[in-house]
Amino acid sequence: MNKFIIQGGKKLKGEVEISGFKNAAVAILPASILAEGKVVIENLPNISDTRTLLKILESMNATVIPLGNNTVSIEPAKMKECKAEHDMASGLRASYYFLGAGLGRFHKAKVAYPGGCHIGSRPIDQHIKGFEALGAKVKIEQGMISVQARELKGAKIYLDVVSVGATINIMLAAVKAKGQTIIENAAKEPHIVDVANFLNAMGAKVKGAGTDTIKIQGVKKLGGCEHAIIPDQIEAGTYMIAAAATRGEVLIKNVIPKHLESITAKLIEMDVTIDENGDEIRVKASKRTKSADIKTLVYPGFPTDLQQPMSSLLAISEGTGSITENIFEGRFKHVNELKRMGASIRVEGKVAIIEGVKKLSPATVKASDLRAGAALIIAALSTKGTTEIYEVEHILRGYDRIEEKLQNLGAKIELAEDKEADK
Ligand code: UD1
Repeated sequence: MNKFIIQGGKKLKGEVEISGFKNAAVAILPASILAEGKVVIENLPNISDTRTLLKILESMNATVIPLGNNTVSIEPAKMKECKAEHDMASGLRASYYFLGAGLGRFHKAKVAYPGGCHIGSRPIDQHIKGFEALGAKVKIEQGMISVQARELKGAKIYLDVVSVGATINIMLAAVKAKGQTIIENAAKEPHIVDVANFLNAMGAKVKGAGTDTIKIQGVKKLGGCEHAIIPDQIEAGTYMIAAAATRGEVLIKNVIPKHLESITAKLIEMDVTIDENGDEIRVKASKRTKSADIKTLVYPGFPTDLQQPMSSLLAISEGTGSITENIFEGRFKHVNELKRMGASIRVEGKVAIIEGVKKLSPATVKASDLRAGAALIIAALSTKGTTEIYEVEHILRGYDRIEEKLQNLGAKIELAEDKEADK
């Protein structure tokens, strides 16, 4: 186990290069097994979630070759089955994409029940509904999910809730189904479009990704391709908020500003100066930010993944603000840790009311999940003194070289061994 030791109170200054989008990468890696040929994936973030998925691919007999420069080649021809056991698959959410991809490739798959951040009940009923509509039988036994279909047949599927995971998983199976599949009330997040572009580069026929109706005409065969993953808008948003919280000035490079509109608009409302220029965004905050009210929504609304980092900024902003979490019911676990640092936050159901304090105080805190960890890093950076953040494995699942990137911006942050936890 590791911990972060942060000596905060320094303004972040300089440039940071954003990595490939975690949430796209963790779908594209499992999707690569659909190819009958070699797939080359560029801009792959070097995070523990992608490293785990590459290990799962190797365990299934896919040939994985790192090509350097965040590029990997995957040749899945030798694979005979799609099976991921508990020891590897239950550490992350995205292992469930092997169900859709395995159905597409082999008409069957068996994967341990997915893990991931504990931010609510996170059911997978919409994934199952989609697989069943395509003709698969789904069984959950002894912590494993099995899907099997004699034949996959296109279907019209209306999602009861807008789900990123279900939309992608259904797409992965439907690209190889006979006939047309229509997903209604589909999620519209940028990574849905990225996964669709990847599948189309392999020869799939996916139309409408990025809207709430996705039409997929099944094909018999998918070939190899090359694909570069889009930049991570959640990582970019995290650095934007960190720049504002430390009253610094940071140039965020390699972003798609359109994907960041809801965050940019909120930061401007809070008195942060934002300049967009091509694929770069400059963030500057010279004074204390004003508070704001934030409601998480599906894309293009404010992303739930940035709600937790944003609550650290609201905690030190002027006035009273609020966060309404509309997507995951359990996404306020970071609040108690922020309170340890002197934040004034009251949670009432799905709303957190945050009264800004002038500054937080350093403390010893624990990251309960990935974005909670990012929130604690931002809180620690904003205040003078030494904060120790434990259980940072959650953070390392999703942020590529975060300590190195922050050090380059002038932060004093060190990744150290948590010797107590290792005893
Ligand atoms: C993905 C992202 C996660 C992000 C979330 C919402 C990945 C790996 N993770 O998670 O970072 O916070 O989108 O943008 O891409 N739901 C159901 N039944 C289902 C599926 C979902 O009721 O079968 C509910 C969930 O409990 C939640 C809502 O739908 O309330 C949205 O979940 P979903 O979009 O599926 O999130 P994930 O794909 O798990």
